[in-house]
Amino acid sequence: MSETVLQPRLYVALDFADPRLVDPFVDRLNPGDCGLKVGKELFTRGGPDLVRRLVHQGFPVFLDLKFHDIPHTVEQACKAACDLGVRLVNVHAMGGRAMMAAARRAVPQSADSTALIAVTVLTSMDQSTLVEVGITRPLAEQVSMLASLAQQEGLDGVVCSAWEANRMREIFTQPVPAIVTPGIRPTGTALDDQSRVMTPSEAILAGATSIVVGRPITRAPDPAEVVSDILASMSSSD
Ligand code: C5P
Repeated sequence: MSETVLQPRLYVALDFADPRLVDPFVDRLNPGDCGLKVGKELFTRGGPDLVRRLVHQGFPVFLDLKFHDIPHTVEQACKAACDLGVRLVNVHAMGGRAMMAAARRAVPQSADSTALIAVTVLTSMDQSTLVEVGITRPLAEQVSMLASLAQQEGLDGVVCSAWEANRMREIFTQPVPAIVTPGIRPTGTALDDQSRVMTPSEAILAGATSIVVGRPITRAPDPAEVVSDILASMSSSD
């Protein structure tokens, strides 16, 4: 996998309910400094044209739609993501080997293309929610098992909690897996609804290659200043 997918080191989560808020916000950021994460809410409201516009402005885009469906459908959806020119697209490892292999066919592993990463167990799930859906294996084992499946199917890395980053690096033996971690809070910022957080520099030290930060940037009076502070704190951990 090309080292290109290790850039940018920071994705700003664009969790805006109203797509009209995106342009004025994004105008305050520099595409050389950060990527942008578009999730299900914004994509469903703003559609592919919004993603195309962000890509056209030069931002690396993480299309966080966590595909999970029959292999053919996921393959076609991943092709559509590649056609949008996004940097990162993700699928649920719970979709199984055949689904991940189909996604891999759609997202070829080559120098400047889109990278394909897996979601293992959502961090909103705990042991009791796993049991609810019939999974009795300890949560950490389930995460490792799904990450191994993703690695065996040639995926480029995972999106995971920074607390799992080190374990993911042991499983993903490629020289440069993408380990993308949300749940990040710069020192002194509000936790919002996140609980087990790390600071940007702690996440890098813990093995993350890129971090995802939303509200500490989207709600800041000067978002570009927060971006630049975060990048500086990450560089000091290299
Ligand atoms: O605002 P905040 O920094 O908490 O946003 C984090 C972003 O990362 C949100 O878009 C959230 O949905 C996403 N995310 C997360 N935890 C995960 C996976 C994704 O917070 N395990």
